[in-house]
Amino acid sequence: MRDEIFKIDFPTEIVHEGKVKVLVPKLKEFVKLPSEYAPSKAPVFYNPVMELNRDIAVLALQAYQRILNREISVCEPLAGCGVRGIRFATEVKGVKQVVINDINEKAFQLAKYNAQMNGLGERVTVKNKDANFLLSCYGAPRKRFDAIDIDPFGSPTPYLDSTIRALRNSGLLALTATDMAPLCGVHPRACIRKYGGKPLRTEYCHELAVRLLAGCLATTAAKYDIGVNIVFSHSTNHYIRVYATIKHGAKKADESIKNMGYILHCFKCFHREAVKKLFLVEHSGKCSECDSKMNIAGPLWLGRIFEKQFCELMEGEAKQRAFKLGRKIRKILTLIENETEAPITYYMVDKLCDSLALPVPSLRTVVEALRKEDSQASLTHFNPKGIRSNVPAMEINELLRKLATASCKF
Ligand SMILES: C[S@@+](CC[C@H](N)C(=O)[O-])C[C@H]1O[C@@H](n2cnc3c(N)ncnc32)[C@H](O)[C@@H]1O
Ligand SMILES: [Zn+2]
Repeated sequence: MRDEIFKIDFPTEIVHEGKVKVLVPKLKEFVKLPSEYAPSKAPVFYNPVMELNRDIAVLALQAYQRILNREISVCEPLAGCGVRGIRFATEVKGVKQVVINDINEKAFQLAKYNAQMNGLGERVTVKNKDANFLLSCYGAPRKRFDAIDIDPFGSPTPYLDSTIRALRNSGLLALTATDMAPLCGVHPRACIRKYGGKPLRTEYCHELAVRLLAGCLATTAAKYDIGVNIVFSHSTNHYIRVYATIKHGAKKADESIKNMGYILHCFKCFHREAVKKLFLVEHSGKCSECDSKMNIAGPLWLGRIFEKQFCELMEGEAKQRAFKLGRKIRKILTLIENETEAPITYYMVDKLCDSLALPVPSLRTVVEALRKEDSQASLTHFNPKGIRSNVPAMEINELLRKLATASCKF
């Protein structure tokens, strides 16, 4: 009966994720070599590794709904088998309507089947359109969504304009980017093309990736006299995610554009500077610490990339849910909560020690030593070996020397 109604003509299996069960392609049937990436070989996309991404999306949507405190409508225009949108409808309280869409006919059939299997009735509508076309159909007052989740192959930038137009004033949008090679500076020209900003292959390139995507979002929204507020972001495995709310109005757009600027980085002494200017015209290009050439990343977003209150709400939600990956998620959220107010970019203690030919102290020792001197210091979820601090690289180097000397005395 399933095959007749839903035209599912490939090997499938049932998986459980969050509170839902979904029919997905039986991935191992589609790979011929162990080196092949199974999700992209299957006729419909389903990646079990992205469960954490979807769990966090559920928490963020619930946090957002709690802030609005009313029923919300959601769109997932690039849905694959539909698991994300089906989870939103099932697991997020206050979700009234979810529109799930995929251009792939087989994905459309599977998502329809999954919505029905989870008993979602008319709360979930499944469509089979091009994402930009679909979003454009909702880009008018009183048709717009409260939240839109863009989870594409590679870059989300081809969908930014239509997403912003289809989002209600104060709406929430979530963006996944998996094109880490351009964003982390391996293919800088592709990054400039897609994101309008120059990346850098620094130790904190994942933070730069988030800031490049957030910057691209802010400049795209500004064209429509819309400002953005980045409420949460994270970098996990092979992708980054950015969550932002938008506010209509030219003033709001002007305010958000003021957060654009550049990060200048010295590869010799690790000194870095953030310059909040959309057009960088007056800089010597030389490192103020060691006179070497500074390298530039940007234009990118220099404003906040996490909001403490939003993060706390997500943490509260996480504690109430029994996710398979709950421990890992709570750890990420705690790290992020502690870095919400921390300075831009982070230092890799092992890299600094390598360049100084010093033994590597524990991160805790460095954090404590910095705090003892009344400086800011926190860990970062971006890298387990990273430390955020307001102390310049030269002074951190000095501190590492002192710590090495002190440890030799014992
Ligand atoms: C990464 S997958 C989506 C995974 C899904 N969001 C999840 O959480 O499991 C990207 C999907 O976008 C679909 N897609 C690609 N181009 C599209 C377009 N122009 N319009 C709509 N869907 C598109 C693909 O068929 C694929 O299913
Ligand atoms: Zn320098």
